[in-house]
Amino acid sequence: MKKTYSNVRGTSDFDAAQSLLFQDTLKKSREVFKRFNYQEIILPLLEERDLFVKGVGQNTEIVEKQMFKIEGKDIVLRPEGTAQVIRYYLQNALFKKSDFSKFFYTGAMFRGERPQKGRLRQFHHIGAEAIGSDSYYLDAEIIDLSLKILDSAGIKERRLLLNSLGCQGDKEKFALILKDELPRYKEHLCEDCRRRLGKNPLRILDCKKQRCRQALKDFVAQTGGPHAHLCLRCLDNFKNLTLLLDDLQIKYILDFSLVRGLDYYTNTVFEITSPRLGAQDAIGAGGRYNNLVKLLGGPDTPAVGFALGVERMLLVLGQSDCQQTIDVFVALTGSSLAKIGFDILSNLRQNNLTADYDYCGKSLKGQLRAAQKKNARYVVIVGDEEWKNNCVLLKDMAKGTQEKVKINDLINKIM
Ligand code: HAM
Repeated sequence: MKKTYSNVRGTSDFDAAQSLLFQDTLKKSREVFKRFNYQEIILPLLEERDLFVKGVGQNTEIVEKQMFKIEGKDIVLRPEGTAQVIRYYLQNALFKKSDFSKFFYTGAMFRGERPQKGRLRQFHHIGAEAIGSDSYYLDAEIIDLSLKILDSAGIKERRLLLNSLGCQGDKEKFALILKDELPRYKEHLCEDCRRRLGKNPLRILDCKKQRCRQALKDFVAQTGGPHAHLCLRCLDNFKNLTLLLDDLQIKYILDFSLVRGLDYYTNTVFEITSPRLGAQDAIGAGGRYNNLVKLLGGPDTPAVGFALGVERMLLVLGQSDCQQTIDVFVALTGSSLAKIGFDILSNLRQNNLTADYDYCGKSLKGQLRAAQKKNARYVVIVGDEEWKNNCVLLKDMAKGTQEKVKINDLINKIM
């Protein structure tokens, strides 16, 4: 038996229709980014492992379990874009050129997760990072931008969950409370969370396992989560952000248990979920990370950003009805006309028309069927009789009409 191959579990092949939808989604997002004045950057798929250990956090799922490491090297396939963008920002000392920068990126990310619907090992992000301002107006812009991109893709049904973790000081104070309180729940927690009790207790609130969620439900309700421990400034900023969102008529749900799975977050955090997705219902997420630039060796610089999961967006959009269309299909009445047809094809393309041809020796009927399948606007039929007078037949597929056209007039007739 011959061995056949399948795609690696947790990766997806996009067929032609899905690829069109994928590209269309990216194209529309680029138009939105342009309106918000974000600049595109294209960064590599490979990065130093330590960038994410430091940036995302040693005790996070991503670092503990999910990074794909290149054998024998301290290099990984990037699991996310934020730490990478900050690496790029610092490597090029962009803070010296401008005190404020706004970037966006699209591309593949890699996480060694247990694959399931909407949870892949290779997936794509549409992401943005705004670096250099602590203004809650910028938080509002980032949230507005992420939703406008979903709007542009046609995803209107979604929920925005919002919380604030507070500044580094607030996070540390809350971590102390967690360290004091959470050991009481130890026996109900999963093994990972037990390990995190001493090291990174905030991560425990982000555990997706049902037993941990159940165990901590009352605790979060009683303590109010990190939001209930904000300093006055952070509380004020968060309140102002919610007022701005109200002004923008952006609906949000305050979710005081939302802490996010990456360590760099401070202050505003948000997640956008879709009721059309199953267990993995987040189509996008983001927040502030005011300490990351400094943590990665740069000046004290606040920043905020988000990333949308493209595959999950496509899942929400469902079966694509995007279809490729072409301007002209060139059909022949006999194989002796192959070279003439091929020259006509080439001339059509030189005039910027999308044109195709039959390379499989189909009958005229078969060629017309192929033209229909490709959604051709016109079929040019090259026949012996007409060609003797330098003419071809031009068939308008929508109208079903057909006329004899001089070859020199063909382009004008079609355009
Ligand atoms: P994240 O929540 O890890 O955030 O990922 C953002 C989105 O990517 C998720 O909401 C989800 O839609 C999608 N996603 C994540 N993991 C997978 C997966 N295994 N399979 C399919 N889709 C997935 C970040 O990565 C942050 N860098 C976002 C950010 C940017 N925060 C500030 N700036």
